[in-house]
This record gives sequence, C-alpha cells and structure tokens, in this order.
Amino acid sequence: MNKLKIGNITLDTPVILAPMAGVNCAAFRLLCREYGAGMVSTPMLVSNQVIGNAEKLIERTCYLKQEKPIMTQLLGSDRKIMEEAARIVEEFSDIIDVNLGCPEKDALAIKAGAFLVKHPEQIEKAVGPVIGATNKPVTAKIRTGWDKDSIRTLDIVKILEDLGVSAITIHARTKEQKYTGKADWEEIRKAKEKANVPIIGNGDIFKPGTAKAMIERTKCDGVMVARGAIGNPLLFKGIKEIIEEGKSMPEPTEKEKIDSFMRFLNYYRKFEKTRSFTELRQHSMWFTKGIPGAKVLRNKLMRSESVEEILDIYSGNER
Ligand SMILES: Cc1cc2nc3c(=O)[nH]c(=O)nc-3n(C[C@H](O)[C@H](O)[C@H](O)COP(=O)(O)O)c2cc1C
Repeated sequence: MNKLKIGNITLDTPVILAPMAGVNCAAFRLLCREYGAGMVSTPMLVSNQVIGNAEKLIERTCYLKQEKPIMTQLLGSDRKIMEEAARIVEEFSDIIDVNLGCPEKDALAIKAGAFLVKHPEQIEKAVGPVIGATNKPVTAKIRTGWDKDSIRTLDIVKILEDLGVSAITIHARTKEQKYTGKADWEEIRKAKEKANVPIIGNGDIFKPGTAKAMIERTKCDGVMVARGAIGNPLLFKGIKEIIEEGKSMPEPTEKEKIDSFMRFLNYYRKFEKTRSFTELRQHSMWFTKGIPGAKVLRNKLMRSESVEEILDIYSGNER
C-alpha cells in the first residue's frame, strides 16, 4: 500500500487514531503511536474554548514531541474564532482538522459539526478561515449526511476539495445514526473514486482484518480507528502488520494486554500535566475489560479513590 501523504506530512503507516473526546489523553495517544498508528489526533477542541483559555487548553491537551505527527481537531463555525483558534494550535500541530460530523446538541447549537453536512453551503465559514490562518495542512472529518434521505458525501467532498483541504476523513454514517447501524463503506468507495485528495475511511474497524477489508473494498488511502482502539491500542499493531506485511497475527495475549495497560499507567504518570481521576479510572476499566487474568487488578481499580492509588498499582506490578 502507498504511503499516505497529507500536504507535506507523510505517515509511516496509513492508519490514524481518530479524534475522541474524553478518550485521547496524551498517554493514550502516545501508546497508540508506539503500537503502530501513523498519526494520532487530539480530542476535538471547541474553538471558542481554545481562544477563551488557550493556556489551559494547551496544557490539558499536553502535546508531546514523541507522539508526532499529531492532528489537532477544531470544532466551530465562527470565522474569527476558527481563525484565531487555528493560529493558537498550529505551533503544536502537524495537521489541523475541522470537525464536520459531531452530532451532539452543543455542537449543533453553535452551527458546527454535523450541522454543516446539513448546510454544506456554510462549510466555508468553518474551514476557509483555518486554511487562511495556517501553513499547516488542513483536513476535514465528515459524516455522509444528516439522515438516510439526505446523503451528501460527494457534494461535501467537492466543496472541501475546492476550499483546498489536504485530505478528507469520511465517517460513513449519517448524523441521525450517531453510532448505530452499520457504516456504509460504499460511500467511502464512491468518494475515493471521484476525489482528488486522499480519502481516509472510518467506521466499524474493530479488528485488523476489517481495516484490510475496508482498504480493499473502498480503495481508500488510509483508515481511521476510534472505538476499536479504546482500551486496546494493540489493535494498531495488528493493523500495521496485516496491511504492511499481509500477516494476520494472533489476537494479543493476556500478558500483552496487561503490559500495555502498565505502559499506559507509566506514561500517564510521566506525562499528563493535568491528571483526572475519572479519566484515569475510565481508561483503566477499558484496558482491563474481559481479561480473566486482570481480575485482581480490576478489583483494586474498582476500589481505588484517587489518581495516586491507581498509579500505585503500576508501581506494585513493577516491584
Ligand atoms: C467516545 C467517543 C468520542 C468521540 N469524539 C470525537 C471527536 O472529538 N471528534 C470527532 O470528529 N469524532 C469523535 N468521535 C467519532 C469517532 O472519531 C469516529 O468517527 C466514530 O467513532 C466511528 O469510528 P469507529 O467505528 O472506529 O468508532 C468520537 C467517538 C467516540 C466513541
């Protein structure tokens, strides 16, 4: 498979960790990168919060040199605010992505996210100012339309290409679907057939073989993975192996899974500047889910009441 080139950034593997609010802390991103993701993304940053308190947002995002290349995703549609937010994040980012898919009420209320796939004529307001504000490549992440009766993938791809984006990710669901039903990969295939910029396919990759199937079926230039990676960054290792070497590796062993969790805890302690108990505990539960050998660990995690207690579990395992 060809290397994925987005503007002047060439990914070593055409597989990207999707933006995920509430999931993509720095420790998790770094782990995904180390296991084989060619690029990782921040959670979406709401543009007016970026400009409202840039220092805090940058500190919380906690960009690390080791995880590069990194994509920062912005949500918004106010020209001035998007422009200013892009100027703030560009120094930390290799690529800036604009969110045209978020189905949540808060996003729709500011006429951003999936609102823009319903009103494609307004996409320029969100994307144009970002392209104007930075020399970094700008990409967009879209849904296929508002509902099944208003699929607009090809129109939206054309609008974005004309604006000058460097790549487009298609989460092949409508806004109404949110995360239900099946992603319609056929929309990715049709877009790839027409598009003049790289198309990144997204939706329902939970196993390495599924990533390969998406690439074969849609001919997309790269894939993006979200839910499948939660608590399971080892998925990137399997995807890298199958798409680069055609090798289908066995499922990760329990030991590999527990090791990856310990590595996560170590990175969390080492790197995260603003530690959150809820975030750390949530990750811990995801990482240890369904691992019979992690029963004792999970019990300890469930009883833990502070960041320190959870991080001590790592020290305990190290001893
Ligand atoms: C917990 C969670 C948070 C998400 N946050 C974002 C986000 O911040 N920005 C975005 O564009 N999409 C977000 N998404 C959507 C994913 O990036 C992705 O498009 C979607 O989950 C489909 O991919 P998947 O089938 O691999 O999960 C989120 C999804 C989940 C499950």
